[in-house]
Amino acid sequence: MLFDTIRTQILDSIALHLKSQGNETTLPDLVLEYPPELHLGDFAFPAFRLAKMLRKGPPQIAKDLAEHFKKDALLSKNCKIEAVGPYVNFTVNADVLKTEVLKSLLLSGEHLGEQKQKNPPTIILEYSSPNVAKAFNIYHLRGTMIGSCLYHIFKTRGYNTIGINHLGDWGTQYGTLAVAYEKWGDDHELEKRGIPYLVELYIKINKEMETDKNIELQARATFAKLEKGDAAIQKLWKKFVELSLKEFNRTYQRLHVEFDHVWGESFYIDKISAVEKLLKEKNLIVESEGAQVVMLETFNMPPCMIRKADGSTIYHTRDLAAAIYRQEKFHFSKMVYVVGAEQKLHFAQIFKTLELAGQNWSKVCVHVDFGLYRFGDAKMSTRKGNFFTMESVLDEAVERVETIMREKWTEASAAELKTAAEAIGVGAVIFNDLSTDRNTDVNFDLEKVLDFEGETGPYIQYAHTRCLSILRNAPESLVPGLDRTKLMDLSANAGAFKNLVVAAEKKLKETEELDLIRVLAKFPLILDSVLETYRPSHLTSYLIDITKAFNRFYRAHKVLVEEEALAQARLSLVLATERVLLKGLTLLGMSAPEKM
Ligand code: ARG
Repeated sequence: MLFDTIRTQILDSIALHLKSQGNETTLPDLVLEYPPELHLGDFAFPAFRLAKMLRKGPPQIAKDLAEHFKKDALLSKNCKIEAVGPYVNFTVNADVLKTEVLKSLLLSGEHLGEQKQKNPPTIILEYSSPNVAKAFNIYHLRGTMIGSCLYHIFKTRGYNTIGINHLGDWGTQYGTLAVAYEKWGDDHELEKRGIPYLVELYIKINKEMETDKNIELQARATFAKLEKGDAAIQKLWKKFVELSLKEFNRTYQRLHVEFDHVWGESFYIDKISAVEKLLKEKNLIVESEGAQVVMLETFNMPPCMIRKADGSTIYHTRDLAAAIYRQEKFHFSKMVYVVGAEQKLHFAQIFKTLELAGQNWSKVCVHVDFGLYRFGDAKMSTRKGNFFTMESVLDEAVERVETIMREKWTEASAAELKTAAEAIGVGAVIFNDLSTDRNTDVNFDLEKVLDFEGETGPYIQYAHTRCLSILRNAPESLVPGLDRTKLMDLSANAGAFKNLVVAAEKKLKETEELDLIRVLAKFPLILDSVLETYRPSHLTSYLIDITKAFNRFYRAHKVLVEEEALAQARLSLVLATERVLLKGLTLLGMSAPEKM
């Protein structure tokens, strides 16, 4: 039992109480708060939320509710309940922490933090979605990692989760690139250099376009041919897509990013005529300067273009088709687009157009936006060929870590060093990204990102390796049967952990010990709060909170004391901390090194 179970008990109990008094309320109206300081309790129910309905003062409601809770056998066994002003505060009892909570932390293995849902809602998450034949740069890390982290957490919390990469693989620019390639393209160079070569050709043709208007016409004509299915252009385009995906996949692997479907914009081309038909039926399409558009001026937005004057589709058209296709296929409860804030207007236009077209479900479509990357003061710009490719940034981080570690960890083999440096370097860049609130720009300073002492990825990874090393050094008699080669395997070793749980129940009593369990028990609540706000930064700050609570415990109390049962009890805390840190890091898309 972790704190999500207790949260459900409290909410159920309130609902029952209100019902018994003839008030109808739905659970989503009831919200619990988690006081920031441990001494204020683990949960607080703000009674003023019910003041209007019950027509009573909040302190009186809080008092009445507290009386009711005290009569609830299950709740009063689990918590100390107290009305304080307009709040009812709940503090989970120490013996519950030492038994059921700790048992869950230690014995749920890979299922730690999971929730089973009887009728899981379907969530569509669209993320990463880079453009083919363009550099995959560090700026793409935001959309990629926020999306990927939400994907992992939605799955963990029992949702039917579908991840989609909406690859930018269609549009006039691929006509332009095809013209450039037909002019100068060299297969051998392409093979050798990949995307950077295509970027170079693209920049070159754009320069020529400035003086030669003909090229633009050629590019449009070539894209029109592509849309009509011209075999030669298609073949060239496919080559660009496959080559780009190969490079993207290399990076996705390093970041533990997965998708259920890589459906680029081109995937929806044959689904566009149905969209046009729908919009026409609803009398939404008007002609404007030769183009087909949906007017949105009543909603203070520029028109949503459906077809250009030359007959080609655009980005918007493909998004409309994609949304409708996904709804028909998956009947989702929610569709989340993790895309930069600069596309706010775009999504507002798409959602509004869908709504006007009678697609009621448009109200469950959400644009989860995020800020930019800043290096010093210069805003990143790919246009000027000023590349901070994701690979080069990750490589640089890994290299720096390797240099630092080579001095510190002299007994490590080259392979050990490499694995650890990859986990720490890449992890640091991910953590820095996810720990920045998504509506704030990321200030990227590699030195700070890699600071082992700051509130960084390495700081958490280090705390985790410390837990591992305490366990590794524990005498066999304390943890009989512990497989030390599988310390980081969440599903292994449950048998060996059982004794620790028994000892903990009898021996733990210090404040720092119990506080640490309290923090750890919040894990599922934090995961839910990430999903409610679409903010992975709630998980990163939580991992920092754990690390601090662990350090307080570790500073105050020796773990491997002489008294065996007490040593075992304290080992159980080290182990529980290790489990939650490891699972948390994994959900962020990071690896945990064995040593550092
Ligand atoms: N490929 C686009 C870009 O790099 C992002 C796509 C976002 N998703 C969408 N459904 N429009 O700007």
